[in-house]
Amino acid sequence: MTGHHPDVAHRASAGFQTAYGEAPAGRWAAPGRVNLIGEHTDYNDGFVLPFALPLRTVVAAAPQPAGNWTVWSELTGETIGFGADEVATPGRVTGWGAYVAGVVWALREAGHPVPGARLAIASDVPLGAGLSSSAALEAATLTALVDLGGLEVPAEHQPRLAQRAENRYVGAPTGVMDQSAAIRCLAGHALFLDCRTERVEHIPFDLDLAGLAVLVLDSRAPHRHADGEYAARRDTCEKAAALLGVPALRDVPTVGLDDALARLPDDETRRRVRHVVTEDQRVLDTVALLRDGRVRHIGGLLTASHASMRDDFAITVPEVDTAVDAALAAGALGARMTGGGFGGCVLALVDADDAERVAAAVTAAYAERGFAAPGHVTVTPSAGATRLD
Ligand code: GLA
Repeated sequence: MTGHHPDVAHRASAGFQTAYGEAPAGRWAAPGRVNLIGEHTDYNDGFVLPFALPLRTVVAAAPQPAGNWTVWSELTGETIGFGADEVATPGRVTGWGAYVAGVVWALREAGHPVPGARLAIASDVPLGAGLSSSAALEAATLTALVDLGGLEVPAEHQPRLAQRAENRYVGAPTGVMDQSAAIRCLAGHALFLDCRTERVEHIPFDLDLAGLAVLVLDSRAPHRHADGEYAARRDTCEKAAALLGVPALRDVPTVGLDDALARLPDDETRRRVRHVVTEDQRVLDTVALLRDGRVRHIGGLLTASHASMRDDFAITVPEVDTAVDAALAAGALGARMTGGGFGGCVLALVDADDAERVAAAVTAAYAERGFAAPGHVTVTPSAGATRLD
């Protein structure tokens, strides 16, 4: 998880130059994210608190005749092309190109005259680590096309468009958190998002001032059945809301939780609902502490969130539980898995001076269990999608 050299923006323009024999008209960047707290709450109309990573995806782009898109990616070194027909049919473009075609599709569906374009993509966001490399690609592509075409798509509408690309064109039933983080985050802040109203509040999250660091540990666990399990959790939540007669689980009040749980048919559904309702409350409690500048005090909420994901929502795996336990045993103030689950990354809130020691303790715990060594990096809250030049 260390940065590559040369720098990602340079790699995007160099790739553009090699693929198309000229310089790009501009470059646009969008970040991966970690979610500080609020997991599987977004598609339940609830609350989330992600922040953008310093790791970014960069799209270098220039216009070309309407109805044609050509895309080079450093991932494969290939150039792919597609036209209006392929864009019109979700699923026709596959692989990494689907995220790009999906964004073109979503913009056109919303009635925007998307310009034809040549694109070159480079990224520092690791794939398959649960850091939303797909949302970073969607957001970088979207901002590039909006700017190139002079399209009128206000920033607050962009996350839903990118989410539609992923839900409808790519076919992954995700919520709106990752795209919101990639587009709307501010440096030095976490993004408090109400996923029903899409109202955002930028919550100062100054780790340096507090003498703290967020350590991101890549569990390197293979994503076992992640897609099917994600869809199953979403389905259970939606059915439970219907049974309870509310539009979404966001509408189940924490104070009335036991009454609501008693009306559900089985223990598994009760646990899933309990996770979502208590997780929404943990987001609100975290925001309240951060507003008071009590950054150290959020640790307990992070750890409680992990326990809820492990015991009630059942989305953790031994590698992530091991990382959380080892980080806490080594003195982390709080630790939790971040993202959709079944692998991916763990974040630990640590005293800045402790980061390397905590990472070493997790590495040792992995070795003891015979797991492949975890990756680690400390991260600071960074900016959302932006034009570079
Ligand atoms: C994935 C999805 C998000 C969200 C998280 C879980 O990252 O893309 O929409 O549901 O899982 O919080």
